[in-house]
Amino acid sequence: MTPASERRWLRTPSDDRPARFAYGADYNPEQWPREVWKEDVRLMREAGVTVVSVAIFSWARLQPAEDRWDFGWLDEVLDLLHSNGIAVDLATATASPPPWLTTLHPEILPVTRTGETLSQGARQHWRPTSPVFREYALRLVEAMASRYADHPALVAWHISNELGCHNIYDYSDDAARAFRDWLRTRYGTLDELNRAWATSFWSQYYGEWEQIQPPRLAASHANPTQQLDFKRFSSDALKDYLRAERDVLRRITPDVPVTTNFMVMGETKGMNYPDWADEIDFVSNDHYTHPGPQRLDELSFSAALTHSIAHGNPWFLMEHSTSAVNWQTVNVAKTPGELARDSLLHVAHGADAVCFFQWRQSAAGAEKYHSAMVPHAGADSEVFRGVAALGRTLHELTPVTGSVRQPARAALVYDWDSWWAVERDSQPTSLLRYRQEALDWYSAFLALGVRVDVVTTAADLTGYDFVAAPVLHVVPKDLAGRLDAYVRGGGHLVTTYYSGVVDENDHVHLGGYPGALRELLGIRIEEFGPLLEDAEVRLDNGLTGTLWTDRIDLTDPEVTVLARYGTGDQAGRPALTRRVLADGGSASYVSTRLGTQLSGVLATLLDGAGVVSELPAGARGRVEATVRTDGSHAYWFLVNRTDESVAFDAVDGEALTGPAPDARGGLVLPAREVAVLRVEAGATPFGRDA
Ligand code: GLA
Repeated sequence: MTPASERRWLRTPSDDRPARFAYGADYNPEQWPREVWKEDVRLMREAGVTVVSVAIFSWARLQPAEDRWDFGWLDEVLDLLHSNGIAVDLATATASPPPWLTTLHPEILPVTRTGETLSQGARQHWRPTSPVFREYALRLVEAMASRYADHPALVAWHISNELGCHNIYDYSDDAARAFRDWLRTRYGTLDELNRAWATSFWSQYYGEWEQIQPPRLAASHANPTQQLDFKRFSSDALKDYLRAERDVLRRITPDVPVTTNFMVMGETKGMNYPDWADEIDFVSNDHYTHPGPQRLDELSFSAALTHSIAHGNPWFLMEHSTSAVNWQTVNVAKTPGELARDSLLHVAHGADAVCFFQWRQSAAGAEKYHSAMVPHAGADSEVFRGVAALGRTLHELTPVTGSVRQPARAALVYDWDSWWAVERDSQPTSLLRYRQEALDWYSAFLALGVRVDVVTTAADLTGYDFVAAPVLHVVPKDLAGRLDAYVRGGGHLVTTYYSGVVDENDHVHLGGYPGALRELLGIRIEEFGPLLEDAEVRLDNGLTGTLWTDRIDLTDPEVTVLARYGTGDQAGRPALTRRVLADGGSASYVSTRLGTQLSGVLATLLDGAGVVSELPAGARGRVEATVRTDGSHAYWFLVNRTDESVAFDAVDGEALTGPAPDARGGLVLPAREVAVLRVEAGATPFGRDA
């Protein structure tokens, strides 16, 4: 079998595969008559498309009945694409089981927490733990892999589709059985499980494994550790399914790289992707934006997180949209420039493939109002012209492929366990949104023009000068030790309310909050002070806090108070603290939600850590700068985040795409545009102007 490092498909700096961006879309030719296919490939060539994902929802067409197969049409599609120079990321086609299967085996249908069985008729109506579903699905995977193993168009396998998008939580009897097996592996004995789940509370002691169930609808709050473990289990169950498909593919086509499309975006939290990433050969992500003031920040945040989930390797943007989606409350079309800017922002964060959902906008079906590369209006449209222009831009960016995103000096920690834990029931507040908290910090970095990596708790933090870990709620002993060592080693850490509170079993670290981080921060909190929905508190530095306050006592002489509460129950007490250790590191604490006002606090803390923006002052906040490098060159992506042009006075570097520096070194970056400048590795384009 080809070694994993070579099965990545996307180019790395050390390999000699031809440099070019993969560009394309999901392609669903089964929705169209054959005449349209010819037109499709003609337009694909015109747009510079190099790859399409095929057969994602084709199970019912490929296997119209249990004992009937029909691959003829797909053979034809693959041949047609190949003869036009378009590669195929071939789906295993298992995403949506056909009606004959759910009729024959209704026991594959997922069951909700309230005990309702989901029906066929949409998609992804299968239980991740169903042995029956797995048997049928793997038979299809085997058939696909055997038939297309040697097809010259095949460049990668696309397992299922967005695993867990609709079926991450299944409470069926299959799930109950698999949950018990998972718990046996985790805890070994019932005694251990009873201890971890604290079943002495509310008479929940388990005497037999068979008594354990998923956290189905109950009379009151389900056991919190059971809930947390069910989230961990549900992510693992789908990961196990992913492995099962992958193993069939690896057995039959050992050299063909395997991927599956993650959904690192918005509030999608069921799948612990950092834990899935090693199961596949290259990471793919789907991303859709939400209108609002943080639209672009969230895109950038997701792309930065995807980069670290991919361990810094180039990754594949498998889906995003040319314009509107169909599943938001109001589906807003993109404004001119956004199509390219959104795509290039993903590229700036390490994507070496830019693909859309989907190639041709459906004429019927649930997604007919979702934009595509070829819209309902046809090729004579702004969208298609934008698509073709982006194809040309990606061609101009060919030298960038295989380069990797240059690490930042600052990191933002993102933790799935904390995400899961703080958004369950029975918390001090149900208003806290973990991802929003992290995003607000990310927005503050963007506002200051300071590059930041988004990393998980598993990351090695020692290379960073500054680490922000907002709402780091679940802190097992070893993580507490690593954070402590980081600060003692000279690192600068900032964390916030509701951090350090529990261990991995959701047991409180006793003795006062923030529990595991109490000594490091040099503070002690006896009681949380969450705020009612519309309540605000004033700080003595003019800022306004919402959502949360803490009753802080200082316990270490090295702690200074950066701001105090001016109003509310904590008036007079510290609100923002900073402990500077003798050897130079620091540990800071923010005890209230500052949202869009965070940038001022962050600026002070970054200053203390010596971390500064690389952008000229006038561009900070208005332009996002991201750097990719191949060891010899640095590629600076300057993304205009605003609807106005931004002028730079003195810029060096060769423009690969977008506006170039003029003879005097000035550069004007028009509204919503992107410039990519090539300079020597280690250099910045702002040597003379920063
Ligand atoms: C997801 C799915 C696609 C399509 C898009 C629409 O990403 O994978 O099949 O439904 O959403 O935005």
